[in-house]
Amino acid sequence: MHKAGRLTAEALDEVVGLVRPGISTDVIDKAVFEFAMDHGAYPATLQYRGYTRSCCTSINHVVCHGIPDDKPLREGDIVNVDITLIVDGWHGDSSRMYCVGDVPRRAERLVEVTYESLMLGIRAIKAGAHLGDIGAAIQAHAEKERCSVVRDFCGHGVGRLFHDEPNVLHYGRVGEGPELKAGMIFTVEPMINLGRPHVKILSDGWTAVTRDRSLSAQFEHTVGVTETGCEVFTLSPKGWDNPAAARRG
Ligand code: MF3
Ligand code: CO
Ligand code: CO
Repeated sequence: MHKAGRLTAEALDEVVGLVRPGISTDVIDKAVFEFAMDHGAYPATLQYRGYTRSCCTSINHVVCHGIPDDKPLREGDIVNVDITLIVDGWHGDSSRMYCVGDVPRRAERLVEVTYESLMLGIRAIKAGAHLGDIGAAIQAHAEKERCSVVRDFCGHGVGRLFHDEPNVLHYGRVGEGPELKAGMIFTVEPMINLGRPHVKILSDGWTAVTRDRSLSAQFEHTVGVTETGCEVFTLSPKGWDNPAAARRG
């Protein structure tokens, strides 16, 4: 998990240098594929349930599972890049937001609130806590900031499998759900909307968008539960996990 998590973070670090107005998400996808090949890894999404790309690229009102294509990114877009790399049979799963040039203040704020929500969720993790504590922390922060939490997708157990038990909901109540045990490995990956939480899937069968076309953002880390807290496997060696790095492009 250490190797897979770190390599996934390094792939996301590579994307920082690519994102700018005019480049297409296909370019990002090809770079992720090449990065995986050069480092003895395999992108878990390739040929996964009929998905044919090395990453997901979700722009503006796309909530998740956006498919890379040849359309250029435009100044002011916010884009989530979600990468899962398999190293020695273990999966590292992580995503971040990237800002394309200067973005509107409300988009910047959504990206910040989403990152804070993820980190507050992660801070609730330790052996003896409950799965619901994570969702409760995320939901409380997002809703305090007048944003909404997407209900239709959740985090998941991960490790030898890409998507395993348990489902990690990004809303909930303190003390509810199964108790966390040291050694459990899962993702936390809140999708937060500026508008209402409802989503629909486009006719490609993958792309999830907000029904009200409001902006949506997401950050994802893969974590392992310890007695005193958790270990985040997908931390950027460069410290580029956060919204400040999102604005570099
Ligand atoms: N990486 C996504 C997750 O966080 C899953 C993408 S599956 C795909 O769980 F097929 F859409 F790529
Ligand atoms: Co995931
Ligand atoms: Co992911």
